[in-house]
Amino acid sequence: MFRRKSLNDILHNPPADAEGHSHGGLERHLTVRDLTALGIAAVIGAGIFSTIGNASYDGGPAVSLLFVFTAIACAFSALCYAQFAATIPVSGSAYTYAYASFGELAAWIIGWALIMEYAVGNIVVAISWSDYFTGLLSGMGVTVPVWLTMGMQSAHKYYNEVLELMQAGKPLAEASAAQLEGYKAWNTAPELFGGLRLVIDLPAGLITLLITAVVYIGIKESKNASNLLVLLKLIVVATVIGVGVFYINPDNWSPFAPNGVGGVLKGVSAVFFAYIGFDAISTTAEECKNPQRDLPRAMIYALIICTVLYVIITLVLTGMVSYTELGVGDPLAFVFQKVGLNWLAGVVAVSAIFAMASVLLVFQIGQPRIWMTMSRDGLLPPVFAKVHPRFHTPSFSTIVTGFFVGVPAMLLNMDLVIDLTSIGTLFAFALVCGGILVIDPHGKSDARFKVPYIDGQYLVPLVLLVGAVLLFVYNAAGIEEFRKALSSGYEEGRHYIPMLVFFVACLLLAWYSFRKHLSLLPTLGLLTNLYLMTQLGINNWLLFFGWLIIGLALYFNYGFKHSKLGLKKAAARR
Ligand code: ALA
Repeated sequence: MFRRKSLNDILHNPPADAEGHSHGGLERHLTVRDLTALGIAAVIGAGIFSTIGNASYDGGPAVSLLFVFTAIACAFSALCYAQFAATIPVSGSAYTYAYASFGELAAWIIGWALIMEYAVGNIVVAISWSDYFTGLLSGMGVTVPVWLTMGMQSAHKYYNEVLELMQAGKPLAEASAAQLEGYKAWNTAPELFGGLRLVIDLPAGLITLLITAVVYIGIKESKNASNLLVLLKLIVVATVIGVGVFYINPDNWSPFAPNGVGGVLKGVSAVFFAYIGFDAISTTAEECKNPQRDLPRAMIYALIICTVLYVIITLVLTGMVSYTELGVGDPLAFVFQKVGLNWLAGVVAVSAIFAMASVLLVFQIGQPRIWMTMSRDGLLPPVFAKVHPRFHTPSFSTIVTGFFVGVPAMLLNMDLVIDLTSIGTLFAFALVCGGILVIDPHGKSDARFKVPYIDGQYLVPLVLLVGAVLLFVYNAAGIEEFRKALSSGYEEGRHYIPMLVFFVACLLLAWYSFRKHLSLLPTLGLLTNLYLMTQLGINNWLLFFGWLIIGLALYFNYGFKHSKLGLKKAAARR
């Protein structure tokens, strides 16, 4: 379970596909520009075009600071990812890195958690894409039956909520637009069996099918598509900023944090979701011309560009209209409608469709490559490593990803999947930072890129101390709630279990850094990712643990027995 792959083994035994072709048959086409574009393609999407709306509504203009804080957490992780990518330029991203640093069980767990980031993340993006797309169609006068535009789970939920409202004798006007739409969808949909109705999000399924087809055909085609989409996306984001800036009314920025720190932190999941993706480029290591040089650079470039754009966009949005109006699913288009620029609102809505399609594309590229790598190691059946003889892409894994994303996207409710994506990704990021502390705690590696070493002996405890003081000064209300919850028994107190785990992690890392002179930046990366995880609520933690338990059951029933490393070690012992 704890067997580790040696770096030598990973680097000098070229991976083979199911048919035994060396290097898996992938082709090297990607340059630093393509990789940066791929990073931006993966990052700017549903987060900034959609979920930023509710985050701003809860937190006010101060959400821009949350974007900065989250970017710092991501930057620590990006540096660690970059060192790994320079050390181990093999597909598989955090999964491969964990295999080298923590061993096989942790690698499996991280590979399993990455499904949350890529495949489950893509379910969110596909649903969001469909919302914008159907909105656009109806703007053009094309009406799609409502039962073909939303997931069964959402429709059923909204239908029941409206029924409850009616049974309570309340007027329908009290229901939200989404609830009424769900009610209508359920009522007008064809009946299946046992009272079930055929309500599906058809556009979400169709876009997944289309993107899967592009990814199946080839990395070169995918690269060209992604470069084009990124260019379009950057032009629109720049236009939003360039025009929006003239409509800012600084009065809207005060109060800056109307709902305090608590309100700002409500946006953690949405804001973090907006950053997810810069790591996806590390899954293409075997398709880069010069992975050790270009992967680290591209990851850091993509992150810097996106952070700058996000912070400016948040300030522009919250400056253009009051934060109280931003609780909508299409905030970027909405603010321009509000100031009377309907044409620009239309352009933004169309571009959102392209922006989100590019996120879908990159994640749909990433997931099969992780499965391919896991399969080469024997942790998944060999068919997952099969590379198409003509298209040179992991064909079977690509199709499975298409199903895994497309079917739930047609049925599920978005809220459920967004938090799961964030918690799974934060977990992966935390393990990547922890991985650097394991393989190179003192910055002594001779990799072509390494996280700059700063001795954490005094700095880690000092940063934690300053953090604690700031928390007491600026979040006294939160501390009071914490104290009350802990003294009022399990029902209330259980929500703070993640926070307690975090406190223990802080103490351990402070002590360990002091004793072992740990490298500061990966340690802070680990801590900031863990902190963001504490903000996602105990129910998401439980769901995530449920997911991990299913993964462990699979590992012990298949991967543990078929692991190539395990078989090799067993043969060596005989
Ligand atoms: N960061 C990606 C998005 O915002 C997942 O859509």
